Amino acid sequence: MKVTVVGAGAVGASCAEYIAIKNFAAEVVLLDIKEGYAEGKAMDLMQTASLNGFDTKITGSTSDYSKTANSDVVVITSGIPRKPGMTREELIGINAGIVKSVSSSLIEYSPNAIMIVVSNPMDTMTYLVHKTTNLPKNRIIGMGGALDSARFKYRLAEALEAPISDVDGMVIGGHSDKGMVPLIGHATRNSVKVSEFLSEAQMDYVVQETKVGGATLTKLLGTSAWYAPGAAVSGLVQAIANDQKKMFPCSTYLEGEYGLNDICIGVPVILGRNGIEKIVDIDLTEAEKAKMQESAAGVSKTNQLLEL
Ligand code: LAC
Repeated sequence: MKVTVVGAGAVGASCAEYIAIKNFAAEVVLLDIKEGYAEGKAMDLMQTASLNGFDTKITGSTSDYSKTANSDVVVITSGIPRKPGMTREELIGINAGIVKSVSSSLIEYSPNAIMIVVSNPMDTMTYLVHKTTNLPKNRIIGMGGALDSARFKYRLAEALEAPISDVDGMVIGGHSDKGMVPLIGHATRNSVKVSEFLSEAQMDYVVQETKVGGATLTKLLGTSAWYAPGAAVSGLVQAIANDQKKMFPCSTYLEGEYGLNDICIGVPVILGRNGIEKIVDIDLTEAEKAKMQESAAGVSKTNQLLEL
């Protein structure tokens, strides 16, 4: 398995690091436009190999897409991250141009690759890739739900005063502060609904803190987060590499599922060797359906800013 990660910034480097540490890929290529930067990150990461016990070969390149040839999976993290007080949607002007040119260069050298989009605003960037490449929809995956669900589980464990391994939960909808739909009614502690343990106020707090999870970190760090985004990407890549048929919420192109059309938004999917092998259309309550519609309206509004 050869994986390319475009963007050797904090998120891209963290993706490469977690993929390598999990030791399932033969090769990771890091690419960046900043002269020598990807090469430096790759070398630094390779010098952790003997310490961390992985055999994945990580190389770096400054803008030479021929080095990415025949990748099985490509990850796009390029673009600018948000600064404190910014929404992900405000990044569209700069990031749309970058994502469009990066995705077409990647496909030129890896026509069969599965593409994972991380750049923000993520759902709209995933839609842009869908509209501007000829890739089948199973090969275009937006990473947001896996990250938001990890943040949801963190907040659930905190509220429950339970270990994270005790909790399960999922966030669907758009990857934005307003658009996320944490499915609190479906969340469990060892298969017992969390409503058995938490008050309404506690559950509202968990939902609210999950939705602003990225913004909270951006405020603390001065830029957007990288460890959890990198770990989330590595989970998706591993599910593809090992044909795990694992379920994650991912942004995917919908054609009628969840009553939505012509949009990329987070819903549960099965990930395996062919990318998105199935969209899982779960039963939602009327309130959850309404939140999903509202979230989709927000994503569609951002999509309209694209010059397609
Ligand atoms: C975040 C960015 C990656 O949520 O969207 O941290």
